[in-house]
Amino acid sequence: MDKTDPCLMVIFGATGDLTRRKLLPALYNLKLEGLLPDPFGVVGAARRPVGDDGFRSSQREGVERYSRQGLNSDLWDPFAGSLTYSPCSFDDPEGYRLLAEHIQRRESELGTGGNRLYYLAVPPSAFPVILKRMEEAGLNRPGQGGTWCRLVVEKPIGTDLASANELNRIVNRVFPEQDVFRIDHYLGKETVQNLMVFRFANAIFEPLWNTKYVDHVQITVAESIGVEGRGGYFEEAGITRDMVQNHMFQLLCLTAMEPPVALDGDAIRTEKVKVLQALRPLTSEDVRDHTVRAQYGEGVSGGSAVPAYREEPGVAPGSTTETYVALRLFIDNWRWSQVPFYLRAGKRLPKRLTEISLQFRDVPHHLFRQGSGGPVPNILTLRIQPDEGITLTFDAKKPGSATRIKPVSMNFAYEGSFERSTPEAYERLILDAMLGDSTLFIRRDEVEGSWAWIDRLFEGWNRDGGTAPAEYTSGTWGPGEADVLMARGGRTWKRT
Ligand code: BG6
Repeated sequence: MDKTDPCLMVIFGATGDLTRRKLLPALYNLKLEGLLPDPFGVVGAARRPVGDDGFRSSQREGVERYSRQGLNSDLWDPFAGSLTYSPCSFDDPEGYRLLAEHIQRRESELGTGGNRLYYLAVPPSAFPVILKRMEEAGLNRPGQGGTWCRLVVEKPIGTDLASANELNRIVNRVFPEQDVFRIDHYLGKETVQNLMVFRFANAIFEPLWNTKYVDHVQITVAESIGVEGRGGYFEEAGITRDMVQNHMFQLLCLTAMEPPVALDGDAIRTEKVKVLQALRPLTSEDVRDHTVRAQYGEGVSGGSAVPAYREEPGVAPGSTTETYVALRLFIDNWRWSQVPFYLRAGKRLPKRLTEISLQFRDVPHHLFRQGSGGPVPNILTLRIQPDEGITLTFDAKKPGSATRIKPVSMNFAYEGSFERSTPEAYERLILDAMLGDSTLFIRRDEVEGSWAWIDRLFEGWNRDGGTAPAEYTSGTWGPGEADVLMARGGRTWKRT
């Protein structure tokens, strides 16, 4: 493992949920594993005047509640000593002047040498003003002697291609692209990283990974939760902007891309961009026949009655925002010509499950009886979460005098296969940002490539005033229309 340079991490939005639930628990776990740089410090910046002690105690609660490894008081205390707080209203130049002084003071107290990792744990609407004020205060300039200054930003980057371009333009005016780390936390998941290892470190799968052998691919991102108090945000985003444009398209790219020429950030991201460039643009007929948008109605989830989306706080009573989407798309290139990729994502589905399944083509000639007991196509399933692992189903002869066939499976489970527990996505991503390794972060052209396709989808949906989304009952696998979408191609959703 490369050594991380000493650095100071400056978090904007330090009193928010992301910091407490994800960032600080991740830093604490890195500390426990001896992976944080030494020296290292965190400066929290946000509007509320909580002070160093208030910041430390709320982060301690967050770690107690959300950390992968339990809180150890002996280790917490020295770690907490590296956390300080500088109150800063995002639009107030004085706050940035004080923040700059605070940073310099901490740098000389800790001896971090001038390397800085800025983390914008704030809604993207706050990016422009923060970046402008940072620039005015000179916070974006690396110090002397080869020190670095990097920026980490959270999704969503824009709400369409035009707004993403504008946001990227603002970001790149203040920080050069090589210093910008756009987070998609799905890339920090071990099982997502394993996609490349599975494909490119094994000789047996890749020869089958193409139109000659694959009938179709299904990618499912199901959640049992609803919008969890984020109704206001979700009204603007919908599941397509919240999950498909970023997380699902990343899964799609990693599944479909060509082997990169090297394991470096640019080589990998260049291959992902090529997948986005090869996505077949949707026609109006495609949007009508091969996309489904739906919204959850009331129902039962986890044994309790749950309200309809339109009754969630912050949601308009007549809202047409989609909480479920199903899509069929094609990648028009040599490898995937005519192979449909089916994507579905939804809230309030029966369970939390993310998986990628490749269903292989049928055998060329049927020796065995069809119908009951006949062969079924092979399916390779990569279970991203939970119950992480990989399963290959294939046909076997049922013991007995008649030749009856039954699908059986070979299963690999992460649990029990490795000694170490799996790090959280944010642990890996923060560490990589400190190391300056951008492989698991989104390059500007990836953001723009995925928006270009999604824009066409929304144009189709909004044509002629748009249509209301279909409805599905909470706790079910989505609307009947999604089954019809599959049936049009003579297929069904994989049973999970
Ligand atoms: C976030 C979305 O990016 O990902 C949430 O904004 C969603 O709506 C979450 O619930 C899912 O992440 P995970 O890691 O739980 O699959």
